[in-house]
Amino acid sequence: MTEQGTFYQFPEGFLWGSSTSGPQSEGIEPGDGKGLNNWDYWFGIEPERFHGQIGPDVTSTFYKNYQTDIELLKETGHTIFRPSIQWSRLIPDGVGQVNPRAVEFYRDVFQQVNALGIKLLVNLYHFDLPYALQEKGGWESKETVWAYEAYARKCFELFGDLVDHWVTFNEPIVPVECGYLGSYHYPCKVDAKAAVAVAYHTQLASSLAVKACHELHPDHQISIVLNLTPAYPRSDSPEDQKAARIAELFQTKSFLDPSVLGAYPEELVAIIDEYGLRPDVTEEELAIIRENTVDFLGVNYYQPLRVQAPKVIFEEGDLLTTEHFFTSYDMPGKKINPHRGWEIYERGLYDIAMNLKKDYGNIVWLVTENGMGVEGEEAFKEDGYIQDDYRIEFIQDHLIELHRAIQEGANCKGYMLWTFIDCWSWLNAYKNRYGLVELDLSTQKRIIKKSGYWFKEVSQANGFSR
Ligand code: BG6
Repeated sequence: MTEQGTFYQFPEGFLWGSSTSGPQSEGIEPGDGKGLNNWDYWFGIEPERFHGQIGPDVTSTFYKNYQTDIELLKETGHTIFRPSIQWSRLIPDGVGQVNPRAVEFYRDVFQQVNALGIKLLVNLYHFDLPYALQEKGGWESKETVWAYEAYARKCFELFGDLVDHWVTFNEPIVPVECGYLGSYHYPCKVDAKAAVAVAYHTQLASSLAVKACHELHPDHQISIVLNLTPAYPRSDSPEDQKAARIAELFQTKSFLDPSVLGAYPEELVAIIDEYGLRPDVTEEELAIIRENTVDFLGVNYYQPLRVQAPKVIFEEGDLLTTEHFFTSYDMPGKKINPHRGWEIYERGLYDIAMNLKKDYGNIVWLVTENGMGVEGEEAFKEDGYIQDDYRIEFIQDHLIELHRAIQEGANCKGYMLWTFIDCWSWLNAYKNRYGLVELDLSTQKRIIKKSGYWFKEVSQANGFSR
Protein backbone atom coordinates (compact mmCIF):
# COMPACT_ATOMS: atom_id res chain seq x y z
CA MET A 1 0.00 0.00 0.00
CA THR A 2 1.11 3.59 -0.66
CA GLU A 3 -0.54 6.78 0.55
CA GLN A 4 -2.64 6.72 -2.57
CA GLY A 5 -3.74 3.13 -2.01
CA THR A 6 -2.44 -0.02 -3.64
CA PHE A 7 0.16 0.06 -6.40
CA TYR A 8 -0.67 -2.57 -9.03
CA GLN A 9 2.73 -3.59 -10.39
CA PHE A 10 2.71 -5.61 -13.63
CA PRO A 11 5.42 -8.16 -14.53
CA GLU A 12 8.62 -6.95 -16.14
CA GLY A 13 8.25 -6.61 -19.91
CA PHE A 14 4.46 -6.37 -19.75
CA LEU A 15 3.25 -4.64 -22.93
CA TRP A 16 0.94 -1.60 -23.08
CA GLY A 17 -0.79 -0.48 -26.24
CA SER A 18 -3.84 -0.50 -28.45
CA SER A 19 -5.44 -2.13 -31.46
CA THR A 20 -7.04 -0.66 -34.53
CA SER A 21 -8.08 -1.98 -37.92
CA GLY A 22 -7.44 -0.92 -41.52
CA PRO A 23 -11.11 -0.66 -42.53
CA GLN A 24 -11.88 1.47 -39.47
CA SER A 25 -8.91 3.84 -39.60
CA GLU A 26 -7.25 4.14 -43.00
CA GLY A 27 -9.90 5.73 -45.22
CA ILE A 28 -9.85 5.78 -49.01
CA GLU A 29 -7.77 8.26 -51.01
CA PRO A 30 -8.15 8.92 -54.75
CA GLY A 31 -5.60 6.86 -56.65
CA ASP A 32 -4.61 4.68 -53.69
CA GLY A 33 -5.47 1.55 -55.68
CA LYS A 34 -7.63 0.02 -52.95
CA GLY A 35 -10.31 -2.40 -54.14
CA LEU A 36 -13.87 -2.61 -52.77
CA ASN A 37 -14.47 -4.74 -49.72
CA ASN A 38 -17.76 -6.05 -48.33
CA TRP A 39 -18.20 -2.90 -46.19
CA ASP A 40 -17.56 -0.45 -49.05
CA TYR A 41 -20.02 -2.37 -51.20
CA TRP A 42 -22.73 -2.67 -48.54
CA PHE A 43 -22.54 1.04 -47.72
CA GLY A 44 -22.89 1.77 -51.44
CA ILE A 45 -26.17 -0.13 -51.71
CA GLU A 46 -27.70 0.43 -48.23
CA PRO A 47 -26.28 3.60 -46.65
CA GLU A 48 -29.35 3.89 -44.41
CA ARG A 49 -28.11 0.89 -42.42
CA PHE A 50 -25.15 2.97 -41.13
CA HIS A 51 -25.44 5.50 -38.28
CA GLY A 52 -25.86 8.98 -39.77
CA GLN A 53 -25.43 7.37 -43.21
CA ILE A 54 -21.68 7.57 -42.70
CA GLY A 55 -19.63 4.91 -44.45
CA PRO A 56 -16.04 3.62 -44.42
CA ASP A 57 -14.57 6.07 -46.96
CA VAL A 58 -13.07 8.62 -44.54
CA THR A 59 -12.73 6.82 -41.15
CA SER A 60 -9.82 8.44 -39.25
CA THR A 61 -7.62 9.18 -42.30
CA PHE A 62 -4.68 7.06 -41.13
CA TYR A 63 -3.67 6.40 -44.76
CA LYS A 64 -3.10 10.13 -45.20
CA ASN A 65 -1.87 11.02 -41.70
CA TYR A 66 0.00 7.94 -40.51
CA GLN A 67 3.32 9.73 -40.21
CA THR A 68 2.08 12.11 -37.53
CA ASP A 69 -0.31 9.55 -36.01
CA ILE A 70 2.55 7.17 -35.30
CA GLU A 71 4.23 9.90 -33.22
CA LEU A 72 1.13 9.88 -31.04
CA LEU A 73 1.70 6.21 -30.23
CA LYS A 74 4.83 7.26 -28.38
CA GLU A 75 3.10 10.19 -26.71
CA THR A 76 0.45 7.88 -25.30
CA GLY A 77 2.93 5.35 -23.93
CA HIS A 78 2.54 2.54 -26.45
CA THR A 79 5.02 -0.32 -26.27
CA ILE A 80 2.87 -2.47 -28.60
CA PHE A 81 0.51 -1.60 -31.47
CA ARG A 82 -1.90 -3.80 -33.46
CA PRO A 83 -2.95 -2.44 -36.85
CA SER A 84 -4.43 -4.61 -39.62
CA ILE A 85 -3.57 -5.01 -43.27
CA GLN A 86 -6.58 -4.53 -45.55
CA TRP A 87 -6.71 -7.45 -47.95
CA SER A 88 -8.66 -5.29 -50.42
CA ARG A 89 -5.91 -2.65 -50.34
CA LEU A 90 -3.06 -5.13 -50.86
CA ILE A 91 -4.77 -7.38 -53.42
CA PRO A 92 -7.72 -5.36 -54.76
CA ASP A 93 -9.47 -8.32 -56.42
CA GLY A 94 -8.78 -10.72 -53.55
CA VAL A 95 -6.48 -12.84 -55.75
CA GLY A 96 -3.74 -11.94 -58.25
CA GLN A 97 -2.24 -8.49 -58.69
CA VAL A 98 -0.61 -6.83 -55.70
CA ASN A 99 -1.15 -3.07 -55.34
CA PRO A 100 2.37 -1.48 -55.15
CA ARG A 101 1.06 1.63 -53.33
CA ALA A 102 -0.28 -0.60 -50.58
CA VAL A 103 3.07 -2.33 -50.20
CA GLU A 104 4.79 1.03 -49.92
CA PHE A 105 2.23 2.29 -47.38
CA TYR A 106 2.32 -0.73 -45.07
CA ARG A 107 6.11 -1.00 -45.24
CA ASP A 108 6.44 2.62 -44.28
CA VAL A 109 3.97 2.26 -41.40
CA PHE A 110 5.77 -0.81 -40.06
CA GLN A 111 9.20 0.78 -40.44
CA GLN A 112 8.13 3.88 -38.54
CA VAL A 113 6.56 1.91 -35.70
CA ASN A 114 9.69 -0.23 -35.44
CA ALA A 115 11.90 2.86 -35.44
CA LEU A 116 10.13 4.07 -32.30
CA GLY A 117 10.87 0.77 -30.56
CA ILE A 118 7.18 -0.16 -30.43
CA LYS A 119 6.39 -3.84 -30.89
CA LEU A 120 4.12 -4.63 -33.85
CA LEU A 121 1.38 -7.21 -33.85
CA VAL A 122 -0.11 -7.26 -37.33
CA ASN A 123 -3.58 -8.60 -38.02
CA LEU A 124 -4.44 -10.01 -41.46
CA TYR A 125 -8.23 -9.84 -41.31
CA HIS A 126 -10.64 -7.58 -39.47
CA PHE A 127 -14.11 -8.38 -40.90
CA ASP A 128 -12.98 -7.09 -44.34
CA LEU A 129 -13.38 -9.41 -47.31
CA PRO A 130 -12.54 -8.16 -50.83
CA TYR A 131 -15.90 -7.77 -52.54
CA ALA A 132 -14.75 -9.72 -55.62
CA LEU A 133 -14.57 -12.80 -53.35
CA GLN A 134 -17.84 -12.01 -51.57
CA GLU A 135 -19.54 -12.01 -54.96
CA LYS A 136 -18.30 -15.54 -55.59
CA GLY A 137 -19.79 -16.88 -52.35
CA GLY A 138 -17.42 -15.33 -49.78
CA TRP A 139 -16.56 -17.56 -46.82
CA GLU A 140 -19.29 -20.03 -47.81
CA SER A 141 -16.91 -21.13 -50.57
CA LYS A 142 -13.59 -22.97 -50.13
CA GLU A 143 -12.18 -20.74 -52.89
CA THR A 144 -12.01 -17.98 -50.29
CA VAL A 145 -9.95 -20.25 -48.01
CA TRP A 146 -7.31 -20.80 -50.72
CA ALA A 147 -7.38 -17.10 -51.65
CA TYR A 148 -6.83 -16.14 -47.99
CA GLU A 149 -3.94 -18.59 -47.69
CA ALA A 150 -2.26 -17.00 -50.72
CA TYR A 151 -2.90 -13.51 -49.30
CA ALA A 152 -1.44 -14.49 -45.92
CA ARG A 153 1.67 -15.95 -47.60
CA LYS A 154 2.07 -12.77 -49.59
CA CYS A 155 1.95 -10.70 -46.38
CA PHE A 156 4.58 -12.90 -44.71
CA GLU A 157 6.82 -12.54 -47.80
CA LEU A 158 6.34 -8.80 -48.24
CA PHE A 159 6.50 -7.69 -44.61
CA GLY A 160 8.23 -10.55 -42.76
CA ASP A 161 11.46 -8.56 -42.43
CA LEU A 162 9.55 -5.87 -40.48
CA VAL A 163 6.91 -7.86 -38.59
CA ASP A 164 7.43 -11.03 -36.57
CA HIS A 165 4.17 -11.25 -34.58
CA TRP A 166 0.97 -11.90 -36.52
CA VAL A 167 -2.76 -12.41 -36.09
CA THR A 168 -4.73 -14.54 -38.56
CA PHE A 169 -8.25 -13.20 -37.81
CA ASN A 170 -9.91 -10.77 -35.44
CA GLU A 171 -13.05 -12.16 -33.72
CA PRO A 172 -13.94 -14.68 -36.45
CA ILE A 173 -17.21 -15.63 -34.74
CA VAL A 174 -18.56 -12.10 -35.26
CA PRO A 175 -19.02 -12.26 -39.07
CA VAL A 176 -20.59 -15.71 -38.59
CA GLU A 177 -23.16 -14.45 -36.08
CA CYS A 178 -23.73 -11.04 -37.61
CA GLY A 179 -23.59 -12.02 -41.28
CA TYR A 180 -25.17 -15.49 -41.34
CA LEU A 181 -27.40 -15.66 -38.26
CA GLY A 182 -28.34 -11.98 -37.98
CA SER A 183 -28.24 -8.87 -40.05
CA TYR A 184 -25.43 -6.69 -38.75
CA HIS A 185 -22.81 -7.65 -41.32
CA TYR A 186 -23.16 -8.20 -45.05
CA PRO A 187 -24.55 -10.52 -46.53
CA CYS A 188 -27.21 -10.42 -43.75
CA LYS A 189 -28.43 -14.00 -44.19
CA VAL A 190 -30.14 -16.25 -41.67
CA ASP A 191 -28.86 -19.65 -42.67
CA ALA A 192 -27.44 -22.01 -40.04
CA LYS A 193 -25.83 -24.34 -42.57
CA ALA A 194 -24.05 -21.45 -44.25
CA ALA A 195 -23.01 -20.12 -40.82
CA VAL A 196 -21.35 -23.44 -39.93
CA ALA A 197 -19.57 -23.58 -43.30
CA VAL A 198 -18.33 -19.99 -42.90
CA ALA A 199 -17.01 -20.77 -39.40
CA TYR A 200 -15.28 -23.96 -40.54
CA HIS A 201 -13.73 -22.31 -43.60
CA THR A 202 -12.46 -19.41 -41.50
CA GLN A 203 -10.83 -21.82 -39.03
CA LEU A 204 -9.24 -23.78 -41.87
CA ALA A 205 -7.92 -20.54 -43.37
CA SER A 206 -6.50 -19.51 -40.00
CA SER A 207 -4.73 -22.86 -39.56
CA LEU A 208 -3.33 -22.61 -43.10
CA ALA A 209 -1.96 -19.16 -42.29
CA VAL A 210 -0.30 -20.53 -39.14
CA LYS A 211 1.27 -23.25 -41.30
CA ALA A 212 2.46 -20.78 -43.95
CA CYS A 213 3.89 -18.44 -41.33
CA HIS A 214 5.88 -21.21 -39.66
CA GLU A 215 7.12 -22.53 -43.03
CA LEU A 216 8.29 -19.13 -44.23
CA HIS A 217 9.54 -17.74 -40.92
CA PRO A 218 10.11 -20.45 -38.30
CA ASP A 219 11.09 -17.79 -35.73
CA HIS A 220 7.83 -15.79 -36.08
CA GLN A 221 4.90 -16.11 -33.69
CA ILE A 222 1.31 -16.20 -34.86
CA SER A 223 -2.02 -16.00 -33.05
CA ILE A 224 -5.76 -15.58 -33.49
CA VAL A 225 -7.78 -12.92 -31.68
CA LEU A 226 -10.98 -14.19 -30.09
CA ASN A 227 -13.73 -12.43 -28.19
CA LEU A 228 -13.85 -14.84 -25.28
CA THR A 229 -16.01 -14.98 -22.26
CA PRO A 230 -17.38 -17.79 -20.18
CA ALA A 231 -21.17 -18.06 -20.61
CA TYR A 232 -22.79 -17.23 -17.26
CA PRO A 233 -26.10 -19.08 -16.79
CA ARG A 234 -29.13 -17.27 -15.34
CA SER A 235 -29.51 -19.88 -12.59
CA ASP A 236 -28.32 -23.29 -11.40
CA SER A 237 -31.23 -25.05 -13.10
CA PRO A 238 -30.12 -27.85 -15.46
CA GLU A 239 -31.88 -26.06 -18.35
CA ASP A 240 -30.00 -22.80 -17.83
CA GLN A 241 -26.73 -24.69 -17.30
CA LYS A 242 -27.21 -26.59 -20.54
CA ALA A 243 -28.01 -23.37 -22.39
CA ALA A 244 -24.77 -21.83 -21.06
CA ARG A 245 -22.74 -24.86 -22.08
CA ILE A 246 -24.10 -24.74 -25.63
CA ALA A 247 -23.66 -20.97 -25.90
CA GLU A 248 -20.03 -21.36 -24.91
CA LEU A 249 -19.59 -24.16 -27.46
CA PHE A 250 -20.95 -21.98 -30.25
CA GLN A 251 -19.51 -18.63 -29.31
CA THR A 252 -16.12 -19.34 -27.83
CA LYS A 253 -15.06 -22.97 -28.17
CA SER A 254 -15.91 -23.11 -31.89
CA PHE A 255 -12.66 -21.21 -32.58
CA LEU A 256 -10.79 -21.50 -29.28
CA ASP A 257 -10.58 -25.30 -29.27
CA PRO A 258 -9.41 -25.87 -32.85
CA SER A 259 -7.06 -22.87 -32.72
CA VAL A 260 -5.38 -23.77 -29.41
CA LEU A 261 -6.01 -27.51 -28.96
CA GLY A 262 -6.21 -28.51 -32.63
CA ALA A 263 -9.66 -30.15 -32.48
CA TYR A 264 -13.35 -29.29 -32.23
CA PRO A 265 -15.24 -30.21 -29.03
CA GLU A 266 -17.12 -33.50 -29.48
CA GLU A 267 -20.37 -32.05 -28.15
CA LEU A 268 -20.27 -29.27 -30.75
CA VAL A 269 -19.68 -31.74 -33.56
CA ALA A 270 -22.56 -33.89 -32.27
CA ILE A 271 -24.97 -30.93 -32.32
CA ILE A 272 -23.86 -29.96 -35.83
CA ASP A 273 -24.44 -33.52 -37.03
CA GLU A 274 -27.77 -33.84 -35.24
CA TYR A 275 -29.10 -30.80 -37.12
CA GLY A 276 -27.60 -31.83 -40.47
CA LEU A 277 -25.26 -28.82 -40.58
CA ARG A 278 -21.92 -30.53 -41.29
CA PRO A 279 -20.05 -28.81 -44.14
CA ASP A 280 -17.75 -30.63 -46.54
CA VAL A 281 -14.87 -31.62 -44.22
CA THR A 282 -11.91 -33.75 -45.28
CA GLU A 283 -9.47 -35.74 -43.14
CA GLU A 284 -6.63 -33.78 -44.72
CA GLU A 285 -8.18 -30.49 -43.60
CA LEU A 286 -8.71 -31.76 -40.06
CA ALA A 287 -5.03 -32.75 -40.00
CA ILE A 288 -4.08 -29.19 -41.01
CA ILE A 289 -6.16 -27.86 -38.10
CA ARG A 290 -4.70 -30.43 -35.70
CA GLU A 291 -1.09 -29.74 -36.64
CA ASN A 292 -1.13 -25.96 -36.88
CA THR A 293 -2.22 -24.49 -33.58
CA VAL A 294 -1.42 -20.90 -32.63
CA ASP A 295 1.69 -19.82 -30.70
CA PHE A 296 -0.24 -17.43 -28.49
CA LEU A 297 -3.72 -15.97 -28.19
CA GLY A 298 -5.27 -12.50 -28.39
CA VAL A 299 -8.34 -11.94 -26.24
CA ASN A 300 -10.87 -9.16 -26.81
CA TYR A 301 -13.09 -8.54 -23.83
CA TYR A 302 -15.94 -6.06 -23.57
CA GLN A 303 -18.91 -7.77 -21.97
CA PRO A 304 -19.92 -11.13 -20.48
CA LEU A 305 -22.16 -13.66 -22.16
CA ARG A 306 -25.25 -14.21 -19.98
CA VAL A 307 -27.73 -16.82 -21.05
CA GLN A 308 -30.79 -18.76 -20.02
CA ALA A 309 -32.73 -21.74 -21.36
CA PRO A 310 -34.39 -21.04 -24.73
CA LYS A 311 -37.52 -18.88 -24.42
CA VAL A 312 -38.65 -18.73 -28.02
CA ILE A 313 -41.28 -21.23 -29.17
CA PHE A 314 -40.48 -22.46 -32.64
CA GLU A 315 -42.95 -23.68 -35.24
CA GLU A 316 -42.26 -26.34 -37.84
CA GLY A 317 -40.35 -24.80 -40.74
CA ASP A 318 -38.89 -21.86 -38.74
CA LEU A 319 -35.27 -21.03 -39.54
CA LEU A 320 -32.74 -22.60 -37.17
CA THR A 321 -30.96 -19.93 -35.08
CA THR A 322 -29.07 -19.85 -31.79
CA GLU A 323 -32.40 -19.00 -30.12
CA HIS A 324 -33.25 -22.71 -30.45
CA PHE A 325 -30.49 -23.44 -27.94
CA PHE A 326 -30.26 -20.45 -25.63
CA THR A 327 -31.69 -16.99 -25.03
CA SER A 328 -29.58 -14.11 -23.86
CA TYR A 329 -30.28 -13.06 -20.29
CA ASP A 330 -30.69 -9.41 -19.37
CA MET A 331 -29.57 -9.57 -15.75
CA PRO A 332 -31.39 -7.05 -13.52
CA GLY A 333 -29.14 -4.53 -11.76
CA LYS A 334 -26.16 -5.09 -14.01
CA LYS A 335 -23.60 -2.32 -14.49
CA ILE A 336 -23.85 -0.96 -18.00
CA ASN A 337 -22.20 1.40 -20.47
CA PRO A 338 -25.38 3.18 -21.59
CA HIS A 339 -23.83 4.50 -24.83
CA ARG A 340 -23.03 1.08 -26.26
CA GLY A 341 -25.61 -0.85 -24.22
CA TRP A 342 -22.97 -3.36 -23.12
CA GLU A 343 -22.71 -4.73 -19.60
CA ILE A 344 -19.53 -3.90 -17.68
CA TYR A 345 -18.31 -6.92 -15.72
CA GLU A 346 -14.62 -6.65 -14.91
CA ARG A 347 -14.52 -10.05 -13.22
CA GLY A 348 -15.05 -11.62 -16.67
CA LEU A 349 -11.42 -10.92 -17.49
CA TYR A 350 -10.26 -12.84 -14.42
CA ASP A 351 -12.54 -15.75 -15.32
CA ILE A 352 -11.19 -15.85 -18.88
CA ALA A 353 -7.63 -15.91 -17.52
CA MET A 354 -8.39 -18.77 -15.16
CA ASN A 355 -10.15 -20.72 -17.91
CA LEU A 356 -7.13 -20.37 -20.22
CA LYS A 357 -4.86 -21.46 -17.39
CA LYS A 358 -6.92 -24.48 -16.48
CA ASP A 359 -8.25 -25.79 -19.79
CA TYR A 360 -5.91 -24.40 -22.47
CA GLY A 361 -2.44 -25.27 -21.16
CA ASN A 362 -1.96 -21.77 -19.74
CA ILE A 363 -1.16 -20.53 -23.25
CA VAL A 364 0.58 -17.15 -23.56
CA TRP A 365 -2.02 -14.47 -24.26
CA LEU A 366 -2.58 -10.74 -24.42
CA VAL A 367 -5.66 -8.63 -23.94
CA THR A 368 -5.90 -7.35 -27.50
CA GLU A 369 -9.05 -5.21 -27.00
CA ASN A 370 -10.91 -3.76 -24.05
CA GLY A 371 -12.46 -0.32 -23.97
CA MET A 372 -15.36 1.98 -23.49
CA GLY A 373 -17.29 3.64 -26.33
CA VAL A 374 -18.88 6.93 -25.26
CA GLU A 375 -21.22 9.21 -27.17
CA GLY A 376 -20.96 13.01 -27.00
CA GLU A 377 -17.54 13.14 -25.33
CA GLU A 378 -17.14 16.84 -26.23
CA ALA A 379 -19.31 17.49 -23.20
CA PHE A 380 -16.36 16.41 -21.06
CA LYS A 381 -13.97 18.89 -22.67
CA GLU A 382 -12.24 21.23 -20.23
CA ASP A 383 -9.12 23.30 -20.85
CA GLY A 384 -9.15 22.18 -24.49
CA TYR A 385 -9.10 18.43 -24.01
CA ILE A 386 -11.47 15.60 -23.05
CA GLN A 387 -11.30 14.74 -19.35
CA ASP A 388 -12.43 11.14 -19.64
CA ASP A 389 -12.13 10.03 -16.03
CA TYR A 390 -14.85 7.43 -16.68
CA ARG A 391 -12.51 5.70 -19.18
CA ILE A 392 -9.58 5.75 -16.75
CA GLU A 393 -11.80 4.16 -14.10
CA PHE A 394 -13.06 1.55 -16.60
CA ILE A 395 -9.49 0.60 -17.54
CA GLN A 396 -8.31 0.52 -13.91
CA ASP A 397 -11.20 -1.72 -12.87
CA HIS A 398 -10.33 -4.22 -15.60
CA LEU A 399 -6.60 -4.03 -14.90
CA ILE A 400 -7.18 -4.84 -11.23
CA GLU A 401 -8.91 -8.09 -12.24
CA LEU A 402 -6.16 -8.84 -14.74
CA HIS A 403 -3.50 -8.16 -12.12
CA ARG A 404 -5.23 -10.57 -9.72
CA ALA A 405 -5.25 -13.25 -12.43
CA ILE A 406 -1.54 -12.73 -13.20
CA GLN A 407 -0.75 -13.04 -9.49
CA GLU A 408 -2.53 -16.38 -9.63
CA GLY A 409 -0.44 -17.61 -12.55
CA ALA A 410 -2.26 -16.37 -15.67
CA ASN A 411 0.11 -16.14 -18.63
CA CYS A 412 -1.00 -12.70 -19.84
CA LYS A 413 1.79 -10.61 -21.39
CA GLY A 414 0.08 -7.35 -22.29
CA TYR A 415 -2.96 -5.12 -22.28
CA MET A 416 -4.19 -3.33 -25.38
CA LEU A 417 -7.07 -0.92 -25.62
CA TRP A 418 -9.63 -0.38 -28.28
CA THR A 419 -8.47 2.05 -29.52
CA PHE A 420 -5.71 4.54 -30.25
CA ILE A 421 -7.45 7.42 -32.13
CA ASP A 422 -11.29 7.64 -32.25
CA CYS A 423 -12.29 5.72 -35.35
CA TRP A 424 -15.20 4.56 -37.50
CA SER A 425 -17.19 1.76 -35.90
CA TRP A 426 -19.10 -0.33 -38.48
CA LEU A 427 -22.85 0.28 -38.23
CA ASN A 428 -22.32 2.83 -35.44
CA ALA A 429 -19.98 4.98 -37.55
CA TYR A 430 -18.64 7.73 -35.23
CA LYS A 431 -21.42 7.50 -32.62
CA ASN A 432 -19.31 6.05 -29.80
CA ARG A 433 -15.74 7.20 -29.28
CA TYR A 434 -13.16 4.79 -27.85
CA GLY A 435 -9.83 6.56 -28.42
CA LEU A 436 -7.01 7.67 -26.17
CA VAL A 437 -6.85 10.46 -28.73
CA GLU A 438 -9.83 12.56 -29.82
CA LEU A 439 -10.52 12.94 -33.53
CA ASP A 440 -12.22 16.21 -34.45
CA LEU A 441 -14.35 15.19 -37.41
CA SER A 442 -14.58 18.65 -38.94
CA THR A 443 -10.86 19.51 -38.84
CA GLN A 444 -9.30 16.02 -38.54
CA LYS A 445 -7.30 17.45 -35.64
CA ARG A 446 -6.02 14.93 -33.08
CA ILE A 447 -6.04 15.90 -29.38
CA ILE A 448 -4.79 13.55 -26.66
CA LYS A 449 -7.46 12.88 -24.00
CA LYS A 450 -6.77 12.71 -20.27
CA SER A 451 -6.78 8.90 -20.59
CA GLY A 452 -3.96 9.15 -23.16
CA TYR A 453 -1.70 11.02 -20.74
CA TRP A 454 -2.68 8.66 -17.92
CA PHE A 455 -2.00 5.58 -20.06
CA LYS A 456 1.53 6.83 -20.74
CA GLU A 457 2.18 7.12 -17.00
CA VAL A 458 0.88 3.58 -16.48
CA SER A 459 3.09 2.25 -19.25
CA GLN A 460 6.18 4.04 -17.90
CA ALA A 461 5.56 2.88 -14.31
CA ASN A 462 4.44 -0.56 -15.53
CA GLY A 463 1.48 -0.23 -13.16
CA PHE A 464 -0.72 2.28 -11.37
CA SER A 465 -1.91 3.27 -7.92
CA ARG A 466 -5.44 3.16 -6.68
C1 BG6 B 1 -14.55 -5.24 -31.43
C2 BG6 B 1 -14.06 -5.11 -32.83
O1 BG6 B 1 -15.43 -6.28 -31.35
O2 BG6 B 1 -15.29 -4.18 -30.90
C3 BG6 B 1 -13.83 -3.67 -33.30
O3 BG6 B 1 -12.89 -5.86 -33.03
C4 BG6 B 1 -14.96 -2.80 -32.81
O4 BG6 B 1 -13.72 -3.67 -34.67
C5 BG6 B 1 -14.99 -2.85 -31.29
O5 BG6 B 1 -14.90 -1.49 -33.29
C6 BG6 B 1 -16.04 -1.96 -30.62
O6 BG6 B 1 -17.32 -2.25 -31.10
P1 BG6 B 1 -18.20 -1.15 -31.82
O7 BG6 B 1 -19.29 -1.91 -32.49
O8 BG6 B 1 -18.71 -0.27 -30.76
O9 BG6 B 1 -17.31 -0.46 -32.77
